[in-house]
Amino acid sequence: MTRLRWGIIGTGYAATLFASDLARAEASRPHAVAGRDPTRTARFAAEFGVPVAHRTPEELLADPDVDAVHVAVPHTEHGRWVLRAIEAGKAVLCEKPLAVDPDEARAMVAAATRSGTFLMEGFMYRLHPQTRLVADLVAKGVLGELRLIRASFTIDAARDPGHRLFDPALGGGAIHDLGCYPMSVARLIAGAVEGRSHAEPDLLAAAGHIGPTGVDESASALLRFPTGVVAQLSTGLTAPAERGLRVEGTAGALVVTDPWSGGRPADVLTADQPADSGAVRLLTAGGSEVIPAVADLPLFAGEADHVAECLATGRTQSPVVSLDDTLGNVAALHRWRAAIG
Ligand SMILES: NC(=O)c1ccc[n+]([C@@H]2O[C@H](COP(=O)([O-])OP(=O)(O)OC[C@H]3O[C@@H](n4cnc5c(N)ncnc54)[C@H](OP(=O)(O)O)[C@@H]3O)[C@@H](O)[C@H]2O)c1
Repeated sequence: MTRLRWGIIGTGYAATLFASDLARAEASRPHAVAGRDPTRTARFAAEFGVPVAHRTPEELLADPDVDAVHVAVPHTEHGRWVLRAIEAGKAVLCEKPLAVDPDEARAMVAAATRSGTFLMEGFMYRLHPQTRLVADLVAKGVLGELRLIRASFTIDAARDPGHRLFDPALGGGAIHDLGCYPMSVARLIAGAVEGRSHAEPDLLAAAGHIGPTGVDESASALLRFPTGVVAQLSTGLTAPAERGLRVEGTAGALVVTDPWSGGRPADVLTADQPADSGAVRLLTAGGSEVIPAVADLPLFAGEADHVAECLATGRTQSPVVSLDDTLGNVAALHRWRAAIG
């Protein structure tokens, strides 16, 4: 089988997650990497077995042996590299969130659509079988009438004004970096009730706390969808880690203890991975049932192979994270952040 040859732009945390998983992919392989610093890039290439270390991202985009590009730089840099990659005719997998600014996201989607180039926002959790299972169970009506979605993602990061998470100029803050997952899953599940891939909230109220560096360090949002489904989202950067998903209906509830990276072995973020990671717990009047849903491949390998499969079947967007879905998430995050003030 001809494997999709990946070029990675960025040598930071997301790039290391992607490159280390890529070694286990079946339809993809790493080909090249480029960051801002050639020495760091060379070290990254050696560590993760990437054959080519380009001196600059421009050089990587001019490499005819790169089929697809993983954009793994701070949020506010996504637009620049996604647009250049599209211009270079490369398929693009861009880290979440596609953009902080909805206008910029629309420009990226318009450029991809115009040129017929593949573009996908890297929400790898959407490809995990436990995510699909939750959406399918909700769509089948297992919970009765869906009422409430509760989703959270908080990490305990040291407040470092030099780190992108705490830098407003790089799109720092909890909402865009972590809150994007609870928002994405709420829109997925609210859509599943109606047999759709996603839904948009018609009401959004929010409050949060802005830290000393000027970014949102913790925030909550309350959403209501047109069907009446309500979602409570929470996120944070500087409190003891928390992640979870609970979906409640008139006939029961679904609980996912590790909804964003479930079943991922040896992930730095999930060193505290709960024992039932990669499973969905169904609570009904009849009792509690754990339904296993473990991924065959590490998350990012599955994501890379999903792009390979989309390209092999002539798709220009993913059916799992469509461009319309992405634009809806970017817009909803923008509303959430704006509501904090
Ligand atoms: N899907 C996931 O699980 C996941 C996990 C983490 C992050 N992410 C996403 O991936 C993206 C990158 O996050 P990260 O945690 O990898 O960040 P990071 O560790 O800070 O790495 C950022 C990379 O981008 C480079 N870069 C390019 N332009 C930059 C600029 N103007 N300022 C700072 N760095 C710049 C950095 O170069 P230097 O090496 O020269 O600093 C570094 O290689 C974010 O959009 C984030 O949301 C996704």
